[in-house]
Amino acid sequence: MGNDLVIVANRLPVDRVTLPNGETGWRRSPGGLVAAIEPVMRTHGGGVWIGWPGGTDQKLKPFEEDGLALVPLSMTQDEIEGHYEGFANGTLWPLYHDLVAKPEFHREWWDEYVKVNRRFAEKAADLAAKNATVWVHDYQLQLVPQYLRELRPDLRIGFYLHIPFPPAELFQQLPWRRQLLEGLLGADLVGFQLPGAAQNFVRLVRQRVGHKTHRDLVYLPDGRVVRAAAFPISIDAAGFEDLANSDQVVERAKALREALGSPRTIFLGIDRLDYTKGIYARLRAFGELIRDGHFDVEDAVFVQVAVPSREQVEQYRLLRDEIERLVGRLNGDLGRIGRPAISYLHTSYPREEMAALYRAADIMVVTPYRDGMNLVAKEYVACRVEDDGALVLSEFAGAADELRQAWLVNPYDINGMKTALLEAYQAEPKELTRRMRAMRKQIRQHDVKAWASSFMTELEDQVHTDHQKV
Ligand code: G6P
Repeated sequence: MGNDLVIVANRLPVDRVTLPNGETGWRRSPGGLVAAIEPVMRTHGGGVWIGWPGGTDQKLKPFEEDGLALVPLSMTQDEIEGHYEGFANGTLWPLYHDLVAKPEFHREWWDEYVKVNRRFAEKAADLAAKNATVWVHDYQLQLVPQYLRELRPDLRIGFYLHIPFPPAELFQQLPWRRQLLEGLLGADLVGFQLPGAAQNFVRLVRQRVGHKTHRDLVYLPDGRVVRAAAFPISIDAAGFEDLANSDQVVERAKALREALGSPRTIFLGIDRLDYTKGIYARLRAFGELIRDGHFDVEDAVFVQVAVPSREQVEQYRLLRDEIERLVGRLNGDLGRIGRPAISYLHTSYPREEMAALYRAADIMVVTPYRDGMNLVAKEYVACRVEDDGALVLSEFAGAADELRQAWLVNPYDINGMKTALLEAYQAEPKELTRRMRAMRKQIRQHDVKAWASSFMTELEDQVHTDHQKV
């Protein structure tokens, strides 16, 4: 019979891990993609999600987890190294994030990427009902739309890129640039976080593949029309608000403040431990404010949650060392007994604990060098149910386009960041409320449901118009 909605993403919402007791178990996957798609699947109330469960276990069968139908697609060790750690995270990730780190180009990585993308497409082709909708996600699977279209021309195919799409000058470096563009053109609708990314894509298709384009449309020689447009992703705002209002979270937030010694101000950073996130620069800025005498460790503490990520990739291991050395130095130089300057946690937390941290924190600091959207910034805003608290946000995060009332900063400018952190620290309650109210309104009106339904509606319209034209 097949499924009327198939989600295809490199990750499942749960990740197969070895637990501290040595047994294998499931843990919630890190990152914004899973956080956004999960509520969409729940609302749809059907469909399947194909993804890599982590690890190399070939024997895992489709299963249900918390009401979601999941289909694990396992990878071999070579595929993990070539497709996931290699091409996806050693080539595309740094290239698409403005070369924050140096991308590497290896033909063997590309070969594994092609292989894995083919397998994902074959699995989706197997599981989709006639005329079903398949929604493919993110940079790890850019060839899937094309392969899938070849196998199943009846399907309605959407693709969404969760990370930035680079300007032509950078994308051009890729030896496989044309294949990637053609891969994406298998979709009916290609969605991006911001309008600039969609424009970059259309321009590249015109220049590199030679197809005719007009505004956001690409005309293919076979008569198909592909649309590229922006759909800024969001969060389950009402869900976070409810969670933040729950007795359990309110109590936990109080307990966290006490555990930190009830300082006047808690600064908070929550990020995957990734070099795009600007963690080092923000901690340095905070440390300098203490050293310059603007506040003291009795008044302020910085809680930094660094969620373990891509630990087999060398650049991530080096980053961890660098940040942990800095935290050690700042605490050694500036802390007192029982009063560290930075409270550093290398772990991931469930949603309830995150909501409690958001409620406990006075200033949320989100300073990526480049970020597709950054959902942590939006989650913080949704959890500030009393319209207080401040958000310091990088102008290079997609979220900065919507959250204009944040203190916007350039993370490359340490002095500028210090000024913004200090202004947020000294802001009058009235000013905080004015800003937070406006941001909360924005998030409520543009939540993840609105994001998914506008993508789905436009995908339907696109297919419809295309068929009429043909
Ligand atoms: C970002 C990417 C996702 C990815 C997530 C976690 O949010 O856009 O595609 O799943 O990071 O990274 P990981 O490598 O652990 O899947």
